Amino acid sequence: MSKLTAAITAVGAYVPDFVLTNKILETMVETNDEWITSRTGIKERRILKEEGQGTSYMAIRAAKDLIRKRNLDPKEIDLVLVATATPDLMVAATAAYTASEIGATNAFSYDLQAACSSFLYGMSTAASYIESGRYKKILLIGADKMSSIIDYTDRTTCIIFGDGAGAVLFEPNTEGLGLQDEFLRSDGIGREFLKMDAGGSMLPASEETVRNKQHYVYQDGKSVFKFAVSNMADVSAKIMERNGLTHEDVHWLVPHQANKRIIDATAKRMGLDAEKVMINIHKYGNTTSATLPLLLHDYEQQLKKGDNLVFAAFGGGFTWGSIYLKWAYNP
Ligand code: UT7
Repeated sequence: MSKLTAAITAVGAYVPDFVLTNKILETMVETNDEWITSRTGIKERRILKEEGQGTSYMAIRAAKDLIRKRNLDPKEIDLVLVATATPDLMVAATAAYTASEIGATNAFSYDLQAACSSFLYGMSTAASYIESGRYKKILLIGADKMSSIIDYTDRTTCIIFGDGAGAVLFEPNTEGLGLQDEFLRSDGIGREFLKMDAGGSMLPASEETVRNKQHYVYQDGKSVFKFAVSNMADVSAKIMERNGLTHEDVHWLVPHQANKRIIDATAKRMGLDAEKVMINIHKYGNTTSATLPLLLHDYEQQLKKGDNLVFAAFGGGFTWGSIYLKWAYNP
């Protein structure tokens, strides 16, 4: 029997309707469209406004989009993974609720959290299960309601993040397509630079933590930027080198959408022209776990069977890495 590889065989997505533009942000904090555009590449982001709804609201819709497009029977799904930094609830898995709501009644499910690298790491997890032969259909969803942990009076973070969800299906492949190699890293040195202080086991919620605004994301942007630029470029170059890929062999860079300047630096290091770099940061900002599947959704019609894709991400923790994947289907 030929070796099993893990291929992405379908994609789905959902973004909320409400568009938070740079112009609107200008009325909320001291900032301007020119600064945001030139420093980050972001023009607008989506915000989930539905009362009482969390990340699962978007995860369910992204999954249903995939199920509809692929004409998939959800009962065939073995495992539902939800990559997220903003689960609906602190304890009950968002993935369990999502799986039930989409009718994946034969699946087990759990959440996976590694900040902005959650989806990238999730790809590794999903692929490993498939390669082992243990499961045949794994739904990996990347979803985040970042607006639930952002302080909209803090101009250093509120301009960056947005809400959204994307989903992919992993299935076994015997043609050698799908995930080829991965280079995943982490370093706890990063904990101080990008975090949410309160609400976890170290500093549970109290009147004081609320008063001190410790339930919002804090980011030392400059430091994170420096680490992100060098590390994302390093792992992407490394995965190319390890697999004997030249810039001509790489058809697409699929980079985490945190800052256009970080993406440009990664592409430059890989020797890639701009037309090979997937970008949607201008439309959605940084959606944390959703950036990579949202890119696949936006570019799906341009992807061809056999295309070489290099995924790269960097996030809180720090967590980061790169994955080399061969695309498995034509539009
Ligand atoms: O996805 C997870 C990983 N996260 C990242 O990768 C994000 C990495 N960091 C970044 O993308 C960038 O550091 C930011 C976009 C967050 C900030 O850009 P920067 O070029 O590093 O700006 P800065 O923090 O050095 O600030 C430059 C100036 C400061 O003013 P002074 O001190 O020079 O007078 C800031 O106060 O810009 C000011 N500033 C702003 N001005 C207008 C900061 N935020 C804003 C703003 N509008 N929203």
